[in-house]
Order: sequence, then C-alpha cells, then structure tokens
Amino acid sequence: MPLLTILQYPDPRLHTVARPVSAFDDRLRRLAADMLETMYDSGGIGLAATQVDVHERLIVMDISEERNQPLVVVNPEIIWTSEARKINEEGCLSVPGVYDRVERFESVHVRVWDLEGNARTLEAQDVMAICIQHEMDHLLGKVFVEYLSLLKRDRIKKKMRKAQREDAH
Ligand code: NI
Repeated sequence: MPLLTILQYPDPRLHTVARPVSAFDDRLRRLAADMLETMYDSGGIGLAATQVDVHERLIVMDISEERNQPLVVVNPEIIWTSEARKINEEGCLSVPGVYDRVERFESVHVRVWDLEGNARTLEAQDVMAICIQHEMDHLLGKVFVEYLSLLKRDRIKKKMRKAQREDAH
C-alpha cells in the first residue's frame, strides 16, 4: 500500500472543510489503511483525511505506546463536552517541528462510525480527547497553530516556508 503525501502548513488545502463520508465501501477501507500506514510511518498519533488532501470526514488514530491499536473514525460528531478544559502541548504532522500549548475540553463524547457503517459513542479522555479534538479541527479546515497568536503563527509560516524551500533544492 502506498504512503500518502501529508500536506504541509501553510498549504491552503489544509483549510478545506470536509464533507461527510457517504459510502462505507472498499475505497474507504483502502484509504483508511493507507492513512494508517502513513501515520505510523511518520510517527504520529493521529491523521485526518484533510491532511492527505481527501476532504471527507475520516480520521485515523493510535495513541498506544506499542503502536498496535489502530482506530478509524468516520463522520465524528461531538455530542458532549466536559466543563473542564486543559492546556496541553500539541504537535501536528502538517507542521513538523512545531509544538505549542492549546486549550481543549478535558473529555468529550463523540458519535463515531466504523468502516462497516456501525455507529457507537466514543468516550474520550486524556490523550485520546486531545487527539480527537485536534483531528476533528482538521476536518473543519483548522490547524492547531491557528489557536496561537498572530505573531507566533507568522513566525511558524516563515519557518515552514523556509524549510519547504530548502527541501525543494
Ligand atoms: Ni494535526
């Protein structure tokens, strides 16, 4: 299975709003498998379809230490959020080398579908809660650096553009 190319911030395609998945078919299963392989290869804990330039509500995650608990989430919808929020350091495969603090709900309940089209409620806490909120933002076209100050974001854009120029040479 091929590794997919991960869009790099500030690629404007990262700001595309994804549409719901409508067909739970072989194409979707292949895409999810390729996204998992790409995520493992890059050492990330989550990847949204937006990041591989497919604008459908599909996320893959694995927050286990052993990297052996893949989770595929289709059409996620948040149905409950905790009162409590928490600030954590986040990173993103689309913004390599950048880590910064983002405030998220401490826990969330998310209505999710699997690749067979079965729905369930995912009760996410700790790292899982952070990860799914981060990935669901991608599906809305939002990258975590957009929570940071304009000054920081400009600095990150410059740094990323410079790195991309150097890579191209
Ligand atoms: Ni990300």
